[in-house]
Amino acid sequence: MFSVTGFQERRRSKLGDPIYYFEELESTNTTAELLAREGCPEGTMVLGNCQSAGRGRKGAGWFSPAGLNLYFSLVLRPDTASLRFLPYIASLAVQRALQQIGIDADLKWPNDVLVDERKICGILIQTAMEDGRLLFAVVGFGINVNVLEFPAELQDVATSVALHKGSAEPREALLASLLLEFERLYETIDSVSWPEFVAEMEASSSYLRDCPVRILQEGVSLEGTTKGLDSFGGLRIQTAKGEKTVYAGEVLSCRKK
Ligand code: BTN
Repeated sequence: MFSVTGFQERRRSKLGDPIYYFEELESTNTTAELLAREGCPEGTMVLGNCQSAGRGRKGAGWFSPAGLNLYFSLVLRPDTASLRFLPYIASLAVQRALQQIGIDADLKWPNDVLVDERKICGILIQTAMEDGRLLFAVVGFGINVNVLEFPAELQDVATSVALHKGSAEPREALLASLLLEFERLYETIDSVSWPEFVAEMEASSSYLRDCPVRILQEGVSLEGTTKGLDSFGGLRIQTAKGEKTVYAGEVLSCRKK
């Protein structure tokens, strides 16, 4: 069981209020999107103890067993121009919250959080636009906290806080500190300059600059070296045929181990 009261006692952010908690639901992103369309306040959080149809990027599912991990979605209404910050502040906030419990995480474009090169957190952002203006964004976080066993297809690519630390971690405190980190970053996005922010991101991710990579995009593969983020948040790649920028795709590291 997740203790909503325990979480509320620890919450220091405005984000995460109101909270809609479900013992089980299909997907926190789907429910958050419905609430957003009904006009719920910014900062509304949907949290599930279990998801029966957790969603990942590119139509994949998200492994969501009961009682072990964090699955939650925030409804946000940033300025349209600040939307490009969202994927990056979300992963930075997770990295900072993990740092506070002694875990050094790396960030892999666009917003995977890795520990020992394995995924510990995935982030799914959905947006609703009208006439080029952002109506709302739903930012969904799936964090592997206390799960110790993964299905076969995830065994070599996923990890959890408990597997890494060798002990269980209280989800309530981790969620409270993550929301505070996210809120601190979110409050800066209308004033921080993009180049300043990109420099911060590059310092936090070993993948963003000078990393040999292969990018998989719908069956097409692109090889090169990363050169940071462009002004829309795309990943710049120096390839043998010149510089290219990708806005979607799966990044694989080609670093020598
Ligand atoms: C990814 O593929 O890396 C993104 C995974 C995002 C999973 C989270 S779990 C909470 C929220 N609800 C969902 O259905 N998906 C996101």
